[in-house]
Amino acid sequence: MDNDVLRQAPLFGALDDEAATALRASMSETRLRRGEVLFREGDSGDKLYIVLDGKVKLGRSSVDGRENLLAILGPGQMFGELSLFDPGPRSATVTAVTETTFASLSHEDLLRWLEGRPVVARGLLSQLAGRLRKANDVVADLVFSDVPGRVAKALLDLADRFGRTADDGVHVHHDLTQEELAQLVGASRETVNKALADFASRGWLRLEPRSVVLMDVERLSRRAR
Ligand code: CMP
Repeated sequence: MDNDVLRQAPLFGALDDEAATALRASMSETRLRRGEVLFREGDSGDKLYIVLDGKVKLGRSSVDGRENLLAILGPGQMFGELSLFDPGPRSATVTAVTETTFASLSHEDLLRWLEGRPVVARGLLSQLAGRLRKANDVVADLVFSDVPGRVAKALLDLADRFGRTADDGVHVHHDLTQEELAQLVGASRETVNKALADFASRGWLRLEPRSVVLMDVERLSRRAR
C-alpha cells in the first residue's frame, strides 16, 4: 500500500508512524477497472475508502435517468463515511474513472479507532466541514454563476488536484468525457462544449482528449469568480 498517499488522508494526518502502521494493518486493498462501480446510491455500506491511485466519480441519478456528478476524487481523498456518521444508505454511486486502487476500512474498525483519539476525529470533522463549504459554493454557483463561470471553476479545481505545470501551461489529465464534465458542472454537454470552445478560441486553454492544458490560469480564475 502506498504510505505517502495514505499519509495525506485526514484519517492519518495526525498519527505517528507506529499508529499509522497499526491503522494500515486493519485496511485492505481493492482495485477497479475504468467504468466499474464500487457501490451504488441507495446500497447499504459498511466501509470507508481512501483512493490510493487513480480517480473516481461520485454521482447521483434523477428518476428520469439524468446524472449529476458531486465530485471527482483522486489519491489521498476519502469517501464512504457519511453512511456511518449519518446512518442510512450510500448517498452516491462511486465509479472508477481510471483504473483505481483503494484502501478500505470497515466502519466498525473506524469507530474503534476513533475511540480515545480526538485528534483523528478532528481530522475527519475538518474534512466534512471542508466538504460542506465546497457543497455550499456549488449551490451558490448554480444560482449565481453562468455555465462558463462554472466550467472555469471546475477546471481550476481539477487542476489543483490533478494538474502538472509545464512550460506551455498546466496540464490537467482529468480523464473525463465531455459528458462527464457537463455532469460535473450541472449543464448540458452542448453548453459546456460552447464554453470550452470559447475559452480555447481566446487562448486561455487547449483541449485534448480527456485532458486540458490551462494556458491562462489568471483569466480563467477571473472568469470563475
Ligand atoms: P456514503 O454516503 O457512505 O457513500 C457515498 C460517499 O460519497 C459519501 O459517503 C461521502 O463520503 C461521499 N460524498 C457525498 N457527497 C459528497 C460531496 N458533495 N463531495 C465529496 N464527497 C461526497
